[in-house]
Amino acid sequence: MNTELAVRRSAELEALIGQDAAPFRILTGDRPTGPLHLGHYFGTLQNRVRLQDLGAEVFVLIPDYQVLTDRDTAEHLDDYLAIGLDPARTVIFAHSAVPALNQLLLPFLSLVSVAELRRNPTVKDEIAHSRQQAVSGLMLTYPVHQAADILFCKANLVPVGQDQLPHLEITRLVARRFNSRYGAAVFPEPDALLSSAPLLLGTDGTKMSKSRGNAIALAASADETARLIRGAKTDAERYISYDPQRRPEVSNLVLLAALALGRSPYDVAADLGTGGAAALKDTVTMAVNELLAPVRARRAEYARDLGYVRRVLREGNQRAEAIAGATLDEVRTAMGMRY
Ligand code: TRP
Repeated sequence: MNTELAVRRSAELEALIGQDAAPFRILTGDRPTGPLHLGHYFGTLQNRVRLQDLGAEVFVLIPDYQVLTDRDTAEHLDDYLAIGLDPARTVIFAHSAVPALNQLLLPFLSLVSVAELRRNPTVKDEIAHSRQQAVSGLMLTYPVHQAADILFCKANLVPVGQDQLPHLEITRLVARRFNSRYGAAVFPEPDALLSSAPLLLGTDGTKMSKSRGNAIALAASADETARLIRGAKTDAERYISYDPQRRPEVSNLVLLAALALGRSPYDVAADLGTGGAAALKDTVTMAVNELLAPVRARRAEYARDLGYVRRVLREGNQRAEAIAGATLDEVRTAMGMRY
């Protein structure tokens, strides 16, 4: 799908959400690749809490089958709860724990051709960068599994980054083809909701990622956060400005402060004026630590009740399974598979 079109459609959807968020059933998920950091927070996580608080129905998926290695699926869950996702309103679940969801993969696979799967640019890119010797069947078909992730609950809105647009196209294709092949309006065609958040870089001015050691994890302590920001790269100019092209490192720190304070980066830079890098870093540290203070407090609360996080996931899995079971029933009926 054309990115420009998706951007325009996302703006329309935001306007509708602003009027009334209740008709939206939203499904999102993050591939578990290590602890979540501020890049995730400003890129997507904050948006989920916003949508939840506006009254949309939110489903948060832990796509553990998409990861080939074993990981602790609870690792993201701590962060989700700490940032303010409320399990009383938002369903948090792992797709491996929802059998009826996974069973949708079989009919869905019959609706797409191998050529369509091979054409997916995101999958092609992942294959090109993969360190694996051979391309697994799952690599080619996980976008169809993603369609099951989205359609099991008939989500109509999926907040994603640009790289996920081809996957969402497959989801829409599966929904459309299922409905027309079986003559039943079982699935909606969900829309992508592209994030308008500016890209936050790491403390060295390159892409924020755990493996580069330039990420501020949501679980970082106040001292650790201060230390990371103190060590951030800047430049020799005393005057602070927001100019991402010419001064990527300084501008990234200005952006971080601005995002944490909910202000414009130009205003933050103007306030700092000739204060230099030290004042900039003090401002960033204070802003981030203030933002993360309630997140840390909630996390400390869960740490005192070790069963809580597990219980949330178990209940989320059960709620997802009940919904998936009902959808699978409709699918079997439409397909004439009632025995
Ligand atoms: N493919 C997504 C990623 O790599 C993760 C994902 C799996 C997902 N299923 C999803 C995202 C359903 C949105 C909806 O980040």
